[in-house]
Amino acid sequence: MSVTEFQLPAIATSTSPQVGLILGSGLGGFVDALDDTVSIDYEGIEGLPASMVPGHEGKLHLGSLGGVEIAVAQGRLHCYEGHTAAAAAAPVRLLHQLGISTLILTNAAGIVNANYKTGRWMLLSDHLNLARLSPLTGSATFIDQTETYSRDLRELLKAIASDSEDTKLYEGVYAWVNGPEYETPAEIRMLRSLGADAVGMSTVPEAIQARALGLRTIALSCLTNFGAGLSRQLLSHGDVIEVGHQATTQLFKLLESAVPAMVEI
Ligand code: HPA
Repeated sequence: MSVTEFQLPAIATSTSPQVGLILGSGLGGFVDALDDTVSIDYEGIEGLPASMVPGHEGKLHLGSLGGVEIAVAQGRLHCYEGHTAAAAAAPVRLLHQLGISTLILTNAAGIVNANYKTGRWMLLSDHLNLARLSPLTGSATFIDQTETYSRDLRELLKAIASDSEDTKLYEGVYAWVNGPEYETPAEIRMLRSLGADAVGMSTVPEAIQARALGLRTIALSCLTNFGAGLSRQLLSHGDVIEVGHQATTQLFKLLESAVPAMVEI
C-alpha cells in the first residue's frame, strides 16, 4: 500500500498529528470544541471519494485536544452507499499517511444488549464482521485480530470514565451489518444470540485497515436507539442523529482527559 495514496494540501502536510479520530453519525459537533482547527473539505483531497449521506459533512480537521495534535475525519464512507470496504477504510489510510500512531473510531449504534441504556457510550472489546467484507480483499494480508481494539487503551479509558460523573462506559461486542435498512426484530434476537451487544453499519472495515497498518486502535459506539423489537419505537435516522448530538459532549469530555494520557502509554 502506497504511503502517498492521497494528495494533500500543504496546510495538512505541515502538521504532525499523533492521534486520529473518525466521527460517526451525529457526532460532528465534536470539532467545534477543538482548539486551533484548520478544516479541509474532502473534495480538496485527491484520492478520497466524497460521502453524500446527510449527517456526514466530509471534512478533515487538524487541531489539538488536551494539548495533543489530532486529525479528525468528519464523514465516513459506508459500504451501504456502494463503496467497497477498501474505500470505506480510506480515511484510516489518510490519517495514517498524516503520521498518526493512535486511532479512535466512533459510531452510532443500536442496542442489542437489553441491559444497556440509550444516550450512553460502549467501548468495543471486539467485533463480529457479519457483512463479511474486508478492506484487505485482493491483498492476501493474513492479519491477526486477537486484539483489534487495544486492551491497554481500553483499560485507560475505562479508568478515566469511572472517575467521571457524566460518562458511564459499557464495554461490549459490536456487530457490523451492511445496511442501509435497520434490522428486523428477529435479526436483533439473532445478533444477541451470536454475542453482540450493539449493532451498526460502519467501523469494522476501518478497524481491520488500522490493524493492518499497525495503528493502536480503540472504538466507541454511541448507543442511539434500542435495536428493532427491543422497544416500541420505530427506528429513524433523524432520531439517531439527534441522540448522537446530545451524547457528543460526553465524548468530548472523556477524550479531552483521555487523549493526553493515551499518547503517554
Ligand atoms: N442498527 C444498525 N445501525 C445503527 C442502528 C441500528 O439500530 N442505530 C444506529 N446505527
